[in-house]
Amino acid sequence: MIMRFSILKRGFSSSNAMSAAINQVTVIGGGLMGSGIAQVAAQAGNTVTICEVNDAALQKAQSRIQSSLERVAKKVYKDKAEDGKKFVSDTMGRVNLSTKVGESVQKADLVVEAIIEKMEVKHKLFKEIDGAAPAHTIFASNTSSLSIKEIASVTKRKDKFGGLHFFNPVPVMKLLEVIKTEDTSEDTYNKFLAWGKAIGKTTVTCKDTPGFVVNRLLVPYMAEACRLLERGDASARDIDTAMKLGAGYPMGPLELADYVGLDTTKYILDGWNKQFPENPLFAPIKIVDKLVAEGKLGVKSGEGFYSYKK
Ligand code: 3HC
Repeated sequence: MIMRFSILKRGFSSSNAMSAAINQVTVIGGGLMGSGIAQVAAQAGNTVTICEVNDAALQKAQSRIQSSLERVAKKVYKDKAEDGKKFVSDTMGRVNLSTKVGESVQKADLVVEAIIEKMEVKHKLFKEIDGAAPAHTIFASNTSSLSIKEIASVTKRKDKFGGLHFFNPVPVMKLLEVIKTEDTSEDTYNKFLAWGKAIGKTTVTCKDTPGFVVNRLLVPYMAEACRLLERGDASARDIDTAMKLGAGYPMGPLELADYVGLDTTKYILDGWNKQFPENPLFAPIKIVDKLVAEGKLGVKSGEGFYSYKK
């Protein structure tokens, strides 16, 4: 069932869906990343469908988008509260919600997957949407660390498949990594670049290599900060203060690990450690393993290296 927040008259007909431009976007997974991706697409005028496993997850995505849009509106429409309200309601009006995967992709020009980082789960999903989406639909995964080519392997449209890697918080971070596999066609790649521009992101291109550009540099950096703490070389606060004031980073590495999620950080490191056991940068970190085992996942669980309980 597809639920609509409101019907908004759009400036294009359904035949536009068959043209080169991307108008209809389906985002599978309405978590932190998925809801951010849906938001920036809707802000840019796309009609967006978020697909999630149940209504509770969809409601969560909806309220996350609403409050983020209100932050944007406060900033952009400082002295024009009415315009700000209209911006929020118009944007929300372009967001549909669905719990039915097949149905949610039926009109999509682009499907972006932002679900759990498990290859077998992604394979099951892409098999299903490959059968349900129109022939022209291009697919992208927002995976942080898995191989795009391997994710795409279960589909019959490997030429229409690539990576679109966003950064948290999606509405604020200006970068979009576009990943081109050996099979991604020039046409698909160009559509990704054009869409990235249309949603206001600066794109960089990377091959289908572990972590692409940003995570390949950022994750080992956060891991080294955890090891520094584990050795007792400096306190968490001092490590973070050092990198903020000494290197100009907006967040220290431990704050950032909490922000990204310690489970996500661990998941990425463990995957790479399995693939490249000889690389000491990817070795498991006891302090991270312990926090994750205790359910201290960072900001989202209320505690990680720091406490976020109100
Ligand atoms: N929605 C809308 N606006 C938001 C927002 C959101 N979710 N979060 C923050 N903002 C806006 C605020 O309204 C504010 O706007 P203003 O300056 O114009 O008033 C601005 O962003 C700054 O926010 P705050 O004042 O609340 O806080 P900070 O100045 O500390 O900035 C931050 C917060 C933007 C998160 C900044 O600390 C930062 O850039 N941190 C680094 C984030 C980062 O490195 N992300 C990448 C992680 S890696 C990743 O995502 C990859 C994945 O695969 C793991």
